[in-house]
Formats: sequence, structure tokens, C-alpha cells
Amino acid sequence: MPNTPLIKPLTLGNRTFPVNLIQGPLAGVSNAPFRWLAWQQSEPAFTCTEMISCKTLIHKPHWAKDRFLTHYPGAGPLCVQLSANQPYELAEATKLVTDHGVDIIDLNCGCPVRKIRNRGAGSKHLSSASILYKFIRTMKDNTHLPVSVKIRVDGDSSDNFNTDIANMLKDSDINLLTVHGRHWRERYDVACRFDEIAFFKQALSIPVIGNGDVACLTSLKRMFETGCDGIMIGRSGVGQPWLIRKLIAEMNGESFYPPSPEETAKMLLYHVELLIEFMGNEKFAILQARKLAKYYARSISHKEDFCRAMNDCEDFQNLKKLCQQYFIDKKSCHEVIQSI
Ligand SMILES: Cc1cc2nc3c(=O)[nH]c(=O)nc-3n(C[C@H](O)[C@H](O)[C@H](O)COP(=O)(O)O)c2cc1C
Repeated sequence: MPNTPLIKPLTLGNRTFPVNLIQGPLAGVSNAPFRWLAWQQSEPAFTCTEMISCKTLIHKPHWAKDRFLTHYPGAGPLCVQLSANQPYELAEATKLVTDHGVDIIDLNCGCPVRKIRNRGAGSKHLSSASILYKFIRTMKDNTHLPVSVKIRVDGDSSDNFNTDIANMLKDSDINLLTVHGRHWRERYDVACRFDEIAFFKQALSIPVIGNGDVACLTSLKRMFETGCDGIMIGRSGVGQPWLIRKLIAEMNGESFYPPSPEETAKMLLYHVELLIEFMGNEKFAILQARKLAKYYARSISHKEDFCRAMNDCEDFQNLKKLCQQYFIDKKSCHEVIQSI
């Protein structure tokens, strides 16, 4: 590996971001409160919205802007991820988000969900490099912002699209590529294919971002061995918005002390308070809190009990009690000794 710092600025088109770690798109999770916390705690290069259907954006603009494009002042640069199956809709949506004032526009080319693929969107774009080229050019022709795509790899399937896609991207004038190192048919139990991420890095002169299974310093360094220019963190950023700051500190040889269980509980409560305000509905926010519980509870000793109890949690008061009970009162001896 070259002897240059791995954490370094990331330049896309005419825009330079101070670091090369990104908080990625997560449907149902990476809304305004999540992105705000990620930025407050970590200052990644940028954070990403959930995947947004261009059709929805065009036909229900007020609803879609509130739900997907709300971005709190001071929440750092924003990448909007679009999902499209019609170039004319992509053109309109690209103009709309550009006028809205975002920083990067990404096209989802990795979503494996059947409904999305059947519509000719998500990972279906990888079936035809020439059609994908038209989609990318549509975005480039309708915005002055950096444009990116997020793809999967062909793995050991018979799809064999890696070379076609790489050759097409060379001519497309795209500014950034993110590669999730799994085939779209592969679930998370299949190991990330680092060699295929390395292939895209070697084939292209634009920045290539590696994505898949990065959760700690060891997995971060493993991903950098692909030669990638930066790394996108997905699931591991949920429930630990400080993760990217921790990784940057550790890469710089500094110690990082993750928040205590009490501090983690406070962050979960703050996240849910923001969700209540954002959604304008405590019930919906608590439903989302139930999904977030297992992520925030990663390091507590009674994680399973807490998650079970969360399934019956109905309101914020109850959530507060459960946090007190499981993050503070039920500390194991091990945690108490560690915190002395
Ligand atoms: C719940 C969930 C929602 C996701 N939503 C999106 C999405 O909207 N757009 C996208 O490109 N990828 C999405 N992904 C994929 C992640 O962005 C990422 O590529 C993948 O999880 C691998 O990275 P990780 O191991 O760091 O999580 C989603 C993944 C999960 C688990």
C-alpha cells in the first residue's frame, strides 16, 4: 500500500470534502434526525438520504421533500440518492433536487428488492451499460453538482457486468463511484468481494468508494487495501453515530473512548426526540425506535432483554424507563469495573 495517509480529502468535480469516510444511504433509517446525529458526532465527508423514487418526488413534491430532503441547518453536506426507471423523470428530479440545494446526486444501481428491479430501477441498471449510460448523462446534463452511482458487483454470477460497467463509466463523465462488494442476489452472510472493488478502482480514474462490512479499524484497513479512495459505512453507523469519528481518530493513532452506556442511552433518547419532532407523531417515532433499539444496545449486557422489552414500548416515557433500566440500572459487573 502507498505510504500516504488513508484518511484524506475527497475531491468530486469542483468540490473537496475534508475526509473520505461517508455515512451511506439506509432506507427507513437515514432521515434528517439520523443524518444530523451522524454529522454532529462524526463529521463524515457527507451523509446520504434514503433512496427516493423520482416518480414520488415529481408527483408528490411537498410530501417527498419533507420526508426525504429535510436537512437540518448545520448538518453538513448532503448526498441525495435517486431511484429512477425513466430518463425524463430522472431529468426532472435531478433539476428539482439541484434547485432544492443539495451537494451530490447519486443514482441507486444496487437495490436488490424485486419490486424495484421489476420496474427497471436499482440493481436492474447493471444489466445494460448502454442504458445506464443514458441515465448518467441525463443527470449530468441537468445539474452542475457532482454526480455519482452506487453499484453492486457481478460476483460469481453469470452476469459479468463489471467490465462493461467500468468501460461505460470511463466515458460517462461521472464524478464518483461507490461499490458495495456483493452481487445483488447476495445477502449479508456472503463475504464482501474486495477484489471486485479493487477492480473498479484500478479501471477508473475517478474516486472509487468501497462499501461493505466496515465496522471497526481492522475492517476499515482491510477495505483500504482495495486501493479505494474512501469508504462508505452503512449499518455500522446506526446506533453509533460517533463511529466515523472513532475510526478517524484510530487511523490517526489516537485513542477514542466510545460513549458509556448512559451516554448511549441519552443519544438514543435524543434520536427519538428528534424523530418525534420530525415525524410529528410519537407513535410512528416509537415504531422506528423499536428498529433502532438493537443497534443502540450493541454493547450493553442485556441487549436481548432490552430489545424484547422494546417490542412492547408504546411511548417516549416508557422508552425513558427502559433506557434507565437496561443501560443504567442493569450494568453488568464487567461494565461497572470498566467504568471505574
Ligand atoms: C436497512 C437497509 C436499508 C438500505 N437502504 C439503502 C438505500 O436506500 N440505498 C442504497 O444504495 N443502499 C441501501 N442499503 C445498502 C447500504 O447502503 C450498504 O450498501 C450495505 O448495507 C453494505 O454496507 P454496510 O456493510 O456498511 O452496511 C441499505 C441497507 C440496509 C441494511
